[in-house]
Amino acid sequence: MSEEAVLRKKRYERLEDLNIGSAMCKKLREIGISTVENLGMATDKELEKAGISKKAARELISKARSCMTLQFIRGDELVKMRQSVLRLTTGSSMLDNLLNGGIESQSITEFYGEYGSGKSQICHQLCVNVQLPPEEGGLGGAALYIDTENTFRTERIFQMAQNVGLDPEEAIKKIIFAEAYTSDHQMFLLENSDKVIKENGIRLIVIDSLTSHFRSEYLGREMLQERQQKLNKHMHMLIRLARAFNAVAVVTNQVMSKPDVFFGDAIHPVGGHIVAHTSHTRIFLRKSARGPVRIARIVSSPHLPEGEGIFRISERGIEDTTEMEK
Ligand SMILES: Nc1ncnc2c1ncn2[C@@H]1O[C@H](COP(=O)(O)OP(=O)(O)OP(=O)(O)O)[C@@H](O)[C@H]1O
Ligand SMILES: [Mg+2]
Repeated sequence: MSEEAVLRKKRYERLEDLNIGSAMCKKLREIGISTVENLGMATDKELEKAGISKKAARELISKARSCMTLQFIRGDELVKMRQSVLRLTTGSSMLDNLLNGGIESQSITEFYGEYGSGKSQICHQLCVNVQLPPEEGGLGGAALYIDTENTFRTERIFQMAQNVGLDPEEAIKKIIFAEAYTSDHQMFLLENSDKVIKENGIRLIVIDSLTSHFRSEYLGREMLQERQQKLNKHMHMLIRLARAFNAVAVVTNQVMSKPDVFFGDAIHPVGGHIVAHTSHTRIFLRKSARGPVRIARIVSSPHLPEGEGIFRISERGIEDTTEMEK
């Protein structure tokens, strides 16, 4: 195992390895903290809920943080990490080109757009494509799908798998599915997913949609801060998993229209600055006048130029547009 792999693995040590006593580990598990990682990212307020004093909480958190490693990375190690970034095909070469070869591993890619713009269709397609071998644009791995709106459809996976030449019965077995009932449940699922990811060889993590529960549960100004803190924690958990397992992380997001002084009603993704800053690549999808054709725009990315391209959604899945549609 390379030095980097050892360091990455170390972040996922069990609570017991911190030598804090089994009673304390049990207490922490009861409030949803089950790994060193979870503890390192907790706040003292959260631990106080388990009857732990502020002082003890601080000590526990800093102990966990000191074991999380890789807080500071040497420049050359960063180069090595970048070199191990993989790319997953979307099924459309136009979209892949916009993304400089496909969706990157080790970071979060966000698709946002109005209903029917193709966000969930792309997620389904990626669950199939990730299973392809690298020479066909896949990562030869499985997918984890966290569904918050009950829109995952196995029939769709069968159609798409058949189209790329995979056995549908086998392809469906390589998708691990979980429905999240509330935002807390959604966070809980992700926080406890490292075992599932390891055991199933998962290389793609999908959250469809990232924001719907948060948006409907946290209403009004007074709740905004708490919502943003939770979203921040959730997104950081996702980044850590994507890095630790060299996996692709994809989230979807709805839009809302906000009155804009100069441009009339402007379309904005939900989630404010937190989601904007933690999604590394944001892609805005919109419908076109040409039926199955969709327009994708790279809105922000640390290393890609802004650009626009088109693809289509058909029974076969996500694909390039026909000559007539171009
Ligand atoms: N079997 C299919 N054959 C062809 N097109 C399909 C098929 N299934 C879905 N579509 C297309 O995909 C669209 C739905 O896209 P999708 O569910 O990805 O939207 P979304 O962006 O996730 O919307 P929402 O915000 O409601 O979740 C349909 O309107 C249709 O145009
Ligand atoms: Mg959807």
